[in-house]
Amino acid sequence: MFQFADRIRALPPYLFADVDRRKTKAVARGVDVIDLGVGDPVEPTPSHVVRRLCEAAQDPANHRYPSYIGSLDFREAVARWYKRKAKVELNPKTQVLTLIGAKEGLAHLPWAFVNPGEPVLVPDPGYPVYRNATIMVGGIPFPVPLVEGRGFLPDLSAIPKHVARRAKLWFLNFPSNPTGAVATLDFFEEVVEFARTYGLIAVQDAAYSEITYDGFVHPSFLEAPGALEVGIEIHSLSKTYNMTGWRLGWAAGNEEVLEGLGKVKTNVDSGAFQAVQFAGIAALDGPQEPVKRQRTIYQERRDIVVEGLRDMGLKVFPPKAGCYVWCRVPEGYTSEEFVGKLIEEAGVVTTPGLGFGEGGEGYFRVSLTVPTGRLREAVERMKDLKF
Ligand code: MLT
Repeated sequence: MFQFADRIRALPPYLFADVDRRKTKAVARGVDVIDLGVGDPVEPTPSHVVRRLCEAAQDPANHRYPSYIGSLDFREAVARWYKRKAKVELNPKTQVLTLIGAKEGLAHLPWAFVNPGEPVLVPDPGYPVYRNATIMVGGIPFPVPLVEGRGFLPDLSAIPKHVARRAKLWFLNFPSNPTGAVATLDFFEEVVEFARTYGLIAVQDAAYSEITYDGFVHPSFLEAPGALEVGIEIHSLSKTYNMTGWRLGWAAGNEEVLEGLGKVKTNVDSGAFQAVQFAGIAALDGPQEPVKRQRTIYQERRDIVVEGLRDMGLKVFPPKAGCYVWCRVPEGYTSEEFVGKLIEEAGVVTTPGLGFGEGGEGYFRVSLTVPTGRLREAVERMKDLKF
């Protein structure tokens, strides 16, 4: 009886909604499903962070509306974090904005800067929110291919000049979800140059930058000279501190971009719960041992999956960072067919590459965010498959 608006009808089905549906069906059949689909850490949030939330939640001062742009205390903690990580000086009053999770900021940005019919550069394959948020405002997602032959890094010289000139936003995501590719500071410098040349806003989604392997340290986009003039970095506490359910993140960088995003937010939300922001400060300023422990856990899991998939004869791309393993499907299968087979015949849920864009066809993604024992079992089950 009721018709969805055109902007909703234009959206492809949300990637994880589809994966969830397949999983529910298998569970209903009584299968002991192992879910390596969505990246949702199974380990708990560090206990000192939880304690800080409990304390802050007792304080009636935190029961009232928070500030739209985030508490200054939290934004100062973010500025300190950048100083420690990247030796970048930020003005917490104007160059940091609190988000209700990175996804919220990514989804709201096009509302501030993209007019109907304008192109937005999005990584392909990439996190679906870049593309879908663009569609919601009537913008045109322009896929920037991330191909195997280039280590899943974009070829900036292949982006048509006429598209770059009209584009307002350019979403980047390193470490990449889903491919696990990482960026160098040199690459970020090229991004700054490109954004300057074409007058577009670079938006680097750094949600996975602290989940790194083999001692690798991922640079911040804001370290690149000139980055503050052309763009922002969006970050999240979700993956670094196992806080996906808390919904806390930030945007940092160019003041005008943050002002635009802040205007949208003022009209659609009322800010992140202040007690959660206090807990976020405890996470950022507190002991970082839990982050180191988490890296070790993921590294062991990465090795189990990479080895298992290789034993199956598949071409796998061991990530230097992030909590996913990206892998080619066997010859003769589409990504959806192979993922379907894994669910049907092994009870293992993974994510079909196509859900991340056309460039993801021929691949599937394995999430490392389940207990190590379950992951081992999933790998053993997959190894028994005939294809
Ligand atoms: C993923 O599985 O790609 C992520 O967990 C999704 C998200 O962070 O929203």
